[in-house]
Amino acid sequence: MYPFLLALHSLTRWLVLISLIISLIVAYRGWLLKKVFTKSVNVLRIITATISHIQLTFGLWLYFISPIVHYFLANFKTAVHEREIRFFGMEHVTIMLTAITVISIGSAKAKRKTTGQEKFKTMAIWFTIGLLLILTSIPWSFSPLVNRPSFRAF
Ligand code: HEM
Repeated sequence: MYPFLLALHSLTRWLVLISLIISLIVAYRGWLLKKVFTKSVNVLRIITATISHIQLTFGLWLYFISPIVHYFLANFKTAVHEREIRFFGMEHVTIMLTAITVISIGSAKAKRKTTGQEKFKTMAIWFTIGLLLILTSIPWSFSPLVNRPSFRAF
């Protein structure tokens, strides 16, 4: 189960990123060019928030079965000084939970706004913050500190 979930969590990262980037392009264009907030934009908002929630579910599940996290929790005092262990045991989870909370709040706020302009603006601002947080906490394959493959075989 662990290798499968790890590969799934790794793959879903791309869906999270793609959906956020598309949403942001649509939101900024809509806000700056004063476009109409159509039903399909609303569906895009919902899909983007849902994909991030799916990734949250995979991440939480992974947190409970990951040997790295087990080691972190069982040996907190020493493990907190080990870069990679601390990253997955603490930093990644905290920042990603914050990012997904920001995306959820932004999506809910956009839903409640009354004009299309306000909806686009709310989506643009909150999703940008969420995306930036996510970008800082992905263990990119090119990261010098903690890195993981861009794609992992199932
Ligand atoms: C948008 C949100 C998230 C993204 C884009 C993301 C992305 C990633 C990526 C790319 C990896 C490396 C996978 C690999 O080794 O191939 C990873 C590992 C991991 N993620 Fe996330 N993650 C997110 C949210 C979360 C959340 C919310 C949790 C926990 C609550 C979590 C827990 C973990 C754990 C425990 C690992 C490493 C497990 C291990 O190597 O044993 N992730 N994540």
